[in-house]
Amino acid sequence: MDLYRKTWAIINLDIFNNNLKNLMNYYRDYNYFFAVVKANGYSHGDIEIAQEALKNGINYLAVSSLEEALNIRKELPNINILCLDPISIEQIDIAKNNNIIITIHDLDYLKELVRQNTSNLKIHIKIDTGMNRLGIKDNNSFKEAIAIIINNKYLEIEGLYTHMANADSSDNRYYEYQINNFYTITKDISLDMFKIIHIGNSATLLNHNKPDFVNGIRLGIAMYGLNPLERKLDIVLQPAFSLKSEIIQVKSIKKNERVGYSLNYKAENDELIGIIPIGYADGIIRKNTGRFVSINNKKYPIIGNICMDMLIVKIDDTIKVNDIVTIIGEDITIDYIANYLDTICYEVICSISDRVPRIYIKDGKEITLKSNRFK
Ligand SMILES: Cc1ncc(COP(=O)(O)O)c(C=O)c1O
Repeated sequence: MDLYRKTWAIINLDIFNNNLKNLMNYYRDYNYFFAVVKANGYSHGDIEIAQEALKNGINYLAVSSLEEALNIRKELPNINILCLDPISIEQIDIAKNNNIIITIHDLDYLKELVRQNTSNLKIHIKIDTGMNRLGIKDNNSFKEAIAIIINNKYLEIEGLYTHMANADSSDNRYYEYQINNFYTITKDISLDMFKIIHIGNSATLLNHNKPDFVNGIRLGIAMYGLNPLERKLDIVLQPAFSLKSEIIQVKSIKKNERVGYSLNYKAENDELIGIIPIGYADGIIRKNTGRFVSINNKKYPIIGNICMDMLIVKIDDTIKVNDIVTIIGEDITIDYIANYLDTICYEVICSISDRVPRIYIKDGKEITLKSNRFK
């Protein structure tokens, strides 16, 4: 495949692998690492990331939907895939036939599942310890759920999990509250019956000691090289994702001339501007106006309203047509952009649409150019 429009994301698998190795080496007291590859591997490519995770010894993936699970299953027949969100009862057989691990998030859901008489399902049960999202919240419902599972020879219980709502905080109180709730909800049940107990995400790993009863962790943002904490980490992580484009036209405008839709930018002087073929349909939302991109190691601001397919930067006379523009990466860090947009690093990368082809780097060389729109 060729790059038809000079806008592309670079996914550096060497960096990704380094991150994963650093994390797995440093946090050795965990037995099970789940690579969280939902949302197309946080925009990095679910299959490519899953393949690298597998090579690093990770044999469990977590995704959010059955669709995501099946997409990976086509390519990786043997890896364990946990679906974090509930799968509709009508589609449970599809999950079973594709060896997808199911989340039991609710007692009524479990009862309905059992009524369907579905055989040989591997399950993880999710309890809600304070996030107030998915999960069984009280001790009696949990006890009843476990009794149903134990008495049903078709359900194979493998895991128990919960999710931490603010593990990234420097204030541990809510984390401790959730751990206490974990004990309260599970107090009548022997935790030995679960092969894997996992309670949290990257921030849980990076910010908290492992409780004794836990042996698994669900690793998302950190393996992609981003830091979910406000403080500096004990280990080195580097972002594996960057986004590039190029200058397709350079022009000069006179003082007081206007730029773009709604004439939102007015030149204060005679100025030079550069046009770049990336816009909000690629995930560079209009709120990015005013923030910097980098060209030849120098920063230039985005001006005027960002269009669907293009944006405009104020440049100087060193910039030429075909010069490469860093939209995300190197000195234009994801944290800077997240801060500018008043959001989190997750949203910045997950927003980059699949219109942008991905170039994969491995062993220092470009190995694939992949487009999800044009095959
Ligand atoms: C249930 C669950 N576990 C784990 C993760 C991974 O989180 P992180 O990317 O912060 O590591 C997520 C991400 O949203 C999640 O929803």
